[in-house]
Amino acid sequence: MKIAVLGCGNLATAVVSKLEGFEIHTYTPSFMRAEKLAIKKGGISHRKLKDVPATDYIILGMKPQQFDEFSKDFKNHFDSDTVVISLLAGTDVATIKKSLGAKSVARVMSNTPALVGEGLHALFFSDVEKPEIVEKMFKASGEIITLDSEEKIDAITHFSGSGPAYLFDLARILTAELEKRGLTSEQASLAIKQTLRGSSILLKNSDLSAIELRKQVTSKAGVTEKVLESLWESGIDKAYEKALVAGDEKIAQLKGKL
Ligand SMILES: NC(=O)c1ccc[n+]([C@@H]2O[C@H](COP(=O)([O-])OP(=O)(O)OC[C@H]3O[C@@H](n4cnc5c(N)ncnc54)[C@H](OP(=O)(O)O)[C@@H]3O)[C@@H](O)[C@H]2O)c1
Repeated sequence: MKIAVLGCGNLATAVVSKLEGFEIHTYTPSFMRAEKLAIKKGGISHRKLKDVPATDYIILGMKPQQFDEFSKDFKNHFDSDTVVISLLAGTDVATIKKSLGAKSVARVMSNTPALVGEGLHALFFSDVEKPEIVEKMFKASGEIITLDSEEKIDAITHFSGSGPAYLFDLARILTAELEKRGLTSEQASLAIKQTLRGSSILLKNSDLSAIELRKQVTSKAGVTEKVLESLWESGIDKAYEKALVAGDEKIAQLKGKL
């Protein structure tokens, strides 16, 4: 089977990196990232969109803001039997179908840990005949959740899609604070990376909830309790709530609803 990756940025590259068994065609306007991905996957890169052959599947990996321009160029060239797999945040199935004349669309909210086979892919299918083939593609680079409504793809976008960024930013803050206390940047970086990694694996593999695991680390009147209480008093719950509502609004804006 053939697959075309149109837009080979951070996310599309992560998603495709573990994909096997497809003839892969790649395209990006500046060619460089298309070439890099094609070399990595033993695929074929194209300098012009019109040179990309008809494929069974296409993965859309451009930014939502770039989709309009792309769809104008691609519409006449598009084979309506192709299944379109969109990685775009906030661009809905109706827009993709209308803009490209597509019959079958899968919207997927992925994340960049797919690059190391640890992605989370939330999928929503609209008129896709064999969804199990698309599910298998994404299982190659992580876990999948198939959702029964498109609204849920929008809901999960700024949790799992953007989520790695919040954790990387937490790593930035904690690493810098540890360096201030005299550790070298290598020591601080390793301490925080391994703490995040170990905690994630423990959380995923344990039968205990996040709250129960947190309690295991928190002795009565101890250091952890002091730090957590300070974070709660500073309003960390409210800060997240407010930030995630801002994310909801951004999604609505991308969908033209604001
Ligand atoms: N990054 C994430 O972690 C993440 C998470 C969840 C969802 N997403 C979604 O994933 C999509 C891609 O994000 P990204 O971070 O991977 O973006 P990115 O790194 O900026 O990559 C965008 C890619 O699209 C290409 N492109 C630009 N205009 C195009 C056009 N007209 N036709 C075809 N390709 C075009 C770019 O080409 P050049 O290489 O030539 O510039 C580039 O390869 C976005 O829609 C975003 O909403 C991303």
